[in-house]
Amino acid sequence: MSEPNVIPLGPKQAAAAAQLHRQGIDTGFLSSLGQSFLRQLYLAVPKCPAGFGYVWVEPGGQVLGFIACAESTGRLYKQALLRRGFQMAWPVGRFLFRPATLKRMIQTLRYPSQVGGELPAAEVLSIAVSSDARGKGVGKALMAAALKEFARRSVRQCKVAVGADNTNANEFYKRCGFKLALTRQHHGRPMNVYVIGTHEQGHD
Ligand SMILES: CC(C)(COP(=O)(O)OP(=O)(O)OC[C@H]1O[C@@H](n2cnc3c(N)ncnc32)[C@H](O)[C@@H]1OP(=O)(O)O)[C@@H](O)C(=O)NCCC(=O)NCCS
Repeated sequence: MSEPNVIPLGPKQAAAAAQLHRQGIDTGFLSSLGQSFLRQLYLAVPKCPAGFGYVWVEPGGQVLGFIACAESTGRLYKQALLRRGFQMAWPVGRFLFRPATLKRMIQTLRYPSQVGGELPAAEVLSIAVSSDARGKGVGKALMAAALKEFARRSVRQCKVAVGADNTNANEFYKRCGFKLALTRQHHGRPMNVYVIGTHEQGHD
């Protein structure tokens, strides 16, 4: 059965998604660019043909979780920069040209081509559930919606990259059916890349 609380990510939920990202994935490079940048990113994702996302919304309107995905991460970044590059650059203008920021940005932009041609281009970019709503099936429902949308777009497999030390997320991906494909260094830390067939999880 479809989960009625799960709806497509739209402009109204971009700020909530940015806040959940900042709170839940606080060690990542994108988080370090700040909430205004993340809001622009989550405004851009559903506007791009290669991107989509879902949110879990309570009847009162509170957003408890979100997921953002790309048919191809490289293509999504290009489309987002073309559509909303100025808005995305504006909040980070102050420190965009610092050598350390530039280095991490280049690593982030080059990462899709570096993780290996064997891996699927499609990717779960980010997922986060509010800390007091975890362990209740919200993340799994968001993942099911994302895999179903990938399948609808004729994407057969997708990957997800996560810090090897993020135990919660690694366990979550394994429980969702993802299989570890490789571990590599990213921004100087070990990162696991998992892969799943988009028809592997029971959708509805
Ligand atoms: C990872 C995260 C999204 C999971 O969301 P969630 O709503 O708590 O997950 P669910 O309740 O839907 O759990 C789905 C399955 O994963 C398992 N699971 C979830 N967290 C787990 C953990 N820490 N340890 C073991 N299993 C776990 C659940 O037991 C469940 O298994 P089941 O299907 O057998 O019942 C959430 O912990 C989170 O937001 N973490 C911070 C953000 C983050 O690290 N994101 C990933 C990096 S991009």
